[in-house]
Amino acid sequence: AEGDAEKGEKVFKKCKACHAVGEDAKNKVGPVLNGIIGANAMHNADFKYSDGMKAKAEEGLVWDEETLGAYLTKPKDVVPGTKMSFAGLRKEQDIADVIAYLKTFQ
Ligand code: HEM
Repeated sequence: AEGDAEKGEKVFKKCKACHAVGEDAKNKVGPVLNGIIGANAMHNADFKYSDGMKAKAEEGLVWDEETLGAYLTKPKDVVPGTKMSFAGLRKEQDIADVIAYLKTFQ
């Protein structure tokens, strides 16, 4: 189903310990996620990424609904060695919703 940005804001609570979005957002444990949809991996020049993420960025990984959906389900399957320690989202609808929410910060 289509993503719902309002519902995605609630899903994003699971990300907020580590990520911020919006005008005054700052990097935390994880990078600011403004503009992430459609961006290359390692989109944030001020953040120190893992070697695993560097390798994927060099391979040309782009964050679209498919790649980000997979990363949010099982981070290490998509980016071996990633330092994003997140158990993953299980529900497809939650993933669609959080992506719809992130799209409002392009
Ligand atoms: C990286 C999204 C939860 C820590 C990333 C990236 C995305 C993302 C898109 C790649 C950024 C880029 O390439 O510039 C999300 C979303 C989450 C979530 C939507 C919630 C559903 C978390 C949590 C943590 C975390 C809970 C901390 C426990 C990190 C870290 C990185 C990262 C450290 C850098 C990974 C690396 O360099 O390997 N996240 N994340 N994230 N995230 Fe998350």
